[in-house]
This record gives sequence, C-alpha cells and structure tokens, in this order.
Amino acid sequence: MPKKLAIFASGSGSNAENICRYFKNNSSVSVVLICTNKLDAFVVKRAKKLNIPVTFITKTELNRFYSLHKALQNNKVDFIILAGFLLKLPTIMVEKYRNRILNIHPSLLPKYGGKGMYGNNVHEAVLENKELESGISIHFVNQNYDKGELILQEKCSVSENETLETLTAKIHQLEKKHFPLTIEKVLKNKKI
Ligand code: GRF
Repeated sequence: MPKKLAIFASGSGSNAENICRYFKNNSSVSVVLICTNKLDAFVVKRAKKLNIPVTFITKTELNRFYSLHKALQNNKVDFIILAGFLLKLPTIMVEKYRNRILNIHPSLLPKYGGKGMYGNNVHEAVLENKELESGISIHFVNQNYDKGELILQEKCSVSENETLETLTAKIHQLEKKHFPLTIEKVLKNKKI
C-alpha cells in the first residue's frame, strides 16, 4: 500500500506542486489531498490542474480538528506535509500525528523562526542582519512554532549584493531539491 500524503499550504503552493510532481508516478507514495485555509490561494489552482482534491478549512475548523480529522481518516492519510501553511496546528492534531507532520522553513532554524517569521519577513531579516549564510530547515512539527526536531538543513551563501529576489530564488531552489527527497527518506524510515 502506498503511503498517503496530505499537503497543507496557504499561498502560492510551488512546493506543494513540486512534491506532487515528484511523487506522481511513484508506487510507494501518493498525494491524496491538498488542504488550505485560503480559498483564493494560488495553490488551489495548482491542485485543480494536478487533479488533486482540495479541502478547505477555516481556522476554527482546524482548531476543533473534528471535520479535518474525519477528512484525513477518510483519505487514509499517513503523513502531513506543511508547505507554506500559515496557521498553527492544534495540540490534538500534533499529538495524533506525532512524528508524521513535516514542515519546511526558509531559514537555518533556530534563527529567524517563530511567530511572524514567514515568507519575505524571514529573508528581509536575514538581509538586514547582514548574515553570511541562510538556508532551509525541514523538521517535525510539535506544539511550538518552528521548534520541532530537525530532519535536514541545507545552506546557501548570502552575498554582499544579495537582494530579496535573489535570496528568495536561492532558497526556493534548495526547497525544490531537498523537500521531496527528504519526505521520501522519512517515509522509508531512512536516516537522512
Ligand atoms: C516556502 O519558502 C517555505 O519554506 C515556507 O513558505 C514558502 C512557501 O512557498 N514555509 P510556496 O507557497 O511553496 O511557493
């Protein structure tokens, strides 16, 4: 039986699409659901194009977890992948899917993590502080924002004339390369 993934995203969904494409013809892994809290997010268009069902959840529904849990169970979801999902998961969900929820963060955690640290906010802070390097962190999710056990970090350099655009592109490149591979390894229970 293939392992089933649900991807949660609130924005553009380029990582979600990349993961779906990576596992498209894979007999061991299948993306069965894309979950979003924003109906007008571009990820919804991507999901339609990829022919993957979309589940919409409000913040209240997420926190109650009742209907979402049913949807996850009905689809026999084994693992949850957060790819730019901006709401904090409720404790009950984190407990039910302990070590089965992965998140990607666009910095070298613990630096530039926590509440409010997402998207451009992260990269702008990195540039403002004149960091020499940045990168990505893939980690398990626990109750605290960006504090779960790290699975993988990959670095990139930040040059003197780096801009928001160039840094974003570097980070996206790392994400595209490493997120699907890391998911695959975790699903196979391999050491990274
Ligand atoms: C990515 O940079 C990811 O690290 C962060 O949110 C962003 C999502 O981008 N968690 P996209 O929606 O996948 O394009």
